[in-house]
Amino acid sequence: MDLEEFRRRAHEIVDFVADYLENVERFPVRSPVRPGEIAARLPDRAPEEPEAFERLMADVEQIVLPGLTHWQHPRFLAFFPANSSPPSVLGEILTAGFAVNALIWQGSPAATEMETVVLDWLRREIGLPEGFRGVIQTTASEATLAALLVAREKATGWRSNEEGLAGGPPLAVYASEEAHSSVEKDVGIAGIGRGNLRRIPTDDALAMQPEALEAAIREDLERGIRPCAIVATLGTTGVGACDPLRPIGEIARRHDVFLHVDAAWAGSALILPEWRHLADGVELVDSFVFNPHKWLMTNFDCSAHFVRDADALIRTFSILPPYLRSAETGRVIDYRDWGIPLGRRFRALKLWFVLRLYGLEGLRAILRRHIELARELAGWIDREPGFVRVTGPHLALVTVRFEPEGLDPERTEALNRALPEAVNRDGRTMVTPHIVRGRAVTRLCVGQTSTERRHVEEAWRAVVEVARDLEARLRAGEELPVG
Ligand SMILES: Cc1ncc(COP(=O)(O)O)c(C=O)c1O
Repeated sequence: MDLEEFRRRAHEIVDFVADYLENVERFPVRSPVRPGEIAARLPDRAPEEPEAFERLMADVEQIVLPGLTHWQHPRFLAFFPANSSPPSVLGEILTAGFAVNALIWQGSPAATEMETVVLDWLRREIGLPEGFRGVIQTTASEATLAALLVAREKATGWRSNEEGLAGGPPLAVYASEEAHSSVEKDVGIAGIGRGNLRRIPTDDALAMQPEALEAAIREDLERGIRPCAIVATLGTTGVGACDPLRPIGEIARRHDVFLHVDAAWAGSALILPEWRHLADGVELVDSFVFNPHKWLMTNFDCSAHFVRDADALIRTFSILPPYLRSAETGRVIDYRDWGIPLGRRFRALKLWFVLRLYGLEGLRAILRRHIELARELAGWIDREPGFVRVTGPHLALVTVRFEPEGLDPERTEALNRALPEAVNRDGRTMVTPHIVRGRAVTRLCVGQTSTERRHVEEAWRAVVEVARDLEARLRAGEELPVG
């Protein structure tokens, strides 16, 4: 493809994407295809000869589109959002076009220095103290792993990277029983051992109980186990609960334990002054991650990771082979030393586009709209006969159960276990199943970039209609499929 053709095709692709976003509401939110259906439509081998662009785009329409789950659909209420936005897509186009590898400063000074500056803008806006320094990691899972590796190094007197963990005492990590599965995965990858992750009980709001945390730390100390890190969550995946950072931070300080905060979703809300209280005590933490790629209109991947002691992060990750040396080594930031991968995309560019083209006020307005819509949704739930709001709204996240009158507990539970899948099969919206204190709930999270009131209303109507249909089938003696 020569550059003239590229120019023409690129315009066509941008038109295609704009049309897609304009019409995305017409698609079922979740792809209706069955496992294997898409693969079966793709040839077994790559083509020997170049193919026509038109044929390729025809396959995009006929094979790819039906196999998409439309995360940018305004009635998408599943998981946490994975925001995109026109400014972010434009930034991504430039990133792809420049195609630099910012592994070291020389790899592209603009990529490195913009990352430093834009993350410092974000640091200030989410209320982290000066002195914290930021880096874009690929995902929150990876940022948490990076944090745990620093904690592991510190807890072993900087020996674990060199010697492994075999010679020292076992280490322990503490996170609430509601913490994201990535914490457990990361504890395993870090060699600490999943069995050494202490799941700390939660209170009525499903937030970590600081007294239980302290008791667990003391118990480990008595048994000769070295407390290594605490992972607190702001905005748990299930219900959006926030662990209390101040008492947890004080415990971390008292016992000299590294404190990382996973604020993957809720961290974006800290740009709203009225929600800053959620992070009260944040000045006590060592490490903090949140995902602009979840709820700050920025395309995946973009995890903003802040650390109090950047030297510790660098000491954990730095390796300097001769081919990565440059005249500036030691005088500039080489982000390869700030995390796991060596190669890095110019990810700050899309964030810069988002921050400049929306402005902070523009972003705040979108987040406030989502939070307000979740509040309205909570009101509709409360007024809908038979429905029970189980948790929330926590920011923009609500969980709900359908408990129709006269249905015995067993069948009510069966109904609620079947509900999310039935809603998703219906296609008007997409939701996530969850279990709260042993009971099945349907989890609804508002947060897609273009979601308006009517979309949440339509989505809620769909949930109600599907739930009532399931109830009728149950009462008629039908067995409901689970999930
Ligand atoms: C609280 C929390 N932490 C971590 C993650 C993992 O995020 P990522 O996909 O960026 O690794 C999620 C994902 O939803 C999450 O909810």
